[in-house]
Amino acid sequence: MHFFSSKFDSLRGIHFEDFWKIYGFNRRVSGGFCFIQIFNRNGSRELLGEAVTTGRIALEGISKNYADLEVLRDLNLEVNRGEFVTLIGPSGSGKSTVFNILSGLEPASAGTVKVEGFGNERAFAYMPQRDALLPWRNILDNVILGQELQGVARKKARAEALSQLPFFGLEGFEKNYPFELSGGMRQRAALLRTVLTHCPVLLLDEPFGALDALTRAQLQQWLGELRTRLNRTILFITHDVEEALLLSDRVYVLSPRPAHVVLELPVDLDRSGPGELVTSPRFVELKAQLLAALKSEGAL
Ligand SMILES: Nc1ncnc2c1ncn2[C@@H]1O[C@H](COP(=O)(O)OP(=O)(O)O)[C@@H](O)[C@H]1O
Ligand SMILES: [Mg+2]
Repeated sequence: MHFFSSKFDSLRGIHFEDFWKIYGFNRRVSGGFCFIQIFNRNGSRELLGEAVTTGRIALEGISKNYADLEVLRDLNLEVNRGEFVTLIGPSGSGKSTVFNILSGLEPASAGTVKVEGFGNERAFAYMPQRDALLPWRNILDNVILGQELQGVARKKARAEALSQLPFFGLEGFEKNYPFELSGGMRQRAALLRTVLTHCPVLLLDEPFGALDALTRAQLQQWLGELRTRLNRTILFITHDVEEALLLSDRVYVLSPRPAHVVLELPVDLDRSGPGELVTSPRFVELKAQLLAALKSEGAL
């Protein structure tokens, strides 16, 4: 993280995750970098400075075949550290396969995956399409699973998880089992488990796909807040155009199988402005562009 304002000199030692408590943020993506604009929360909304995050993930010329089935063909995409990037495309086009390749679960048949500037740590935390909570573990022991696998002591992992439960709307449910929770709560628990791994990049595969519209809308708003709070890099899969625009800095539209990129759309929306985002003229314009790209690929 590099800061561009002397006003931040005294804050250089503070971990970024603590910043959200004090300051407001906006994101701006430009020239391949993700800038974070930091402003005063005290009502004046004075812009205090900008920080730029370094690091990127690139898929270059990725192809993937399963025996005779060609799933990905010459796929190119890039994600800058701190960005929220969404993949949208027809069902069965190969979106989850992209995540499987990134996380190392599947090898690519051709092409290169580059992960630069994330240090030596494990970069990716994967939240797969199904919520995969273990039915025989209570919520607390489900959400610490990722840490347990990383070798963190249970006691320490539990203490951290407990401190995060309120923001995830799970306070008081730590002893409950997954079947006792609503769909929305189960998804938040699965997300918390992903977040607690402390991996810098979250791969979220249709996390809200199976939820009713109201729960979905609530979780979209909540994820927007969570994203500001965590400042992780997020790669997201959805087939919902509005969801993609509400949350993302950039959207890639994929073709049907074999998938390649048919449109890369920067989402230049002013999220801090007043009024309803989804009815703003720019939102409506971007939505039309996404729908047109999906339609031209026969995905609608
Ligand atoms: N391990 C696998 N073995 C064989 N075929 C697979 C495997 N994983 C995925 N596929 C096939 O690859 C295609 C793309 O799958 P997927 O990436 O899950 O699509 P999406 O997430 O876009 O719906 C599908 O036709 C699926 O059946
Ligand atoms: Mg999928």
